[in-house]
Amino acid sequence: MFSILRINHVAIVVEDLDAALDFWRDGLGLEVTHVEEVAEQESMVAFLPTAESEIELVKPTSETSGVARYLRKRGPGIHHICLEVDDIEACLAHLAERNVRLINAEPILGTGGKRIAFIHPESTHGVLVELYELSPQEDEIRLTRARELAQRAWDQGQLVADGLRELVKGLREPD
Ligand code: CO
Repeated sequence: MFSILRINHVAIVVEDLDAALDFWRDGLGLEVTHVEEVAEQESMVAFLPTAESEIELVKPTSETSGVARYLRKRGPGIHHICLEVDDIEACLAHLAERNVRLINAEPILGTGGKRIAFIHPESTHGVLVELYELSPQEDEIRLTRARELAQRAWDQGQLVADGLRELVKGLREPD
């Protein structure tokens, strides 16, 4: 048997990431932990965690992606709700048995090696539902990514500092 553990994230399709952040980050005060280009979804995703789950703002980066088509057809709004499950195979098998229309009958690999599957809105009363089973390596992957980001920010800071030092040196030596 399986259990649904929590709402992992709610994904919202937007036309303009900065404009969306003006509300979701600056208006509500949610923190953006990272912004990532998700190549397989042809989109940029901004992650804004709340206590138990995340808001994900998704902006298509191509005209042809599923997300882009969704945006053209329906305009901005909720794209999917993601439920975290402890045993994705058991959950999919159970749903298939009940003739639920599955977009992915088998789990596919999402970013960071997590295992996900989508359920068709036809069977969920109008909402695209993503199932998600946390992989044991997930925390480690997130930590590595955070470290890389911190390192990059530090390197950029160093570049700015070096630039400033050069500038100051130049100012001190007018002749
Ligand atoms: Co998702």
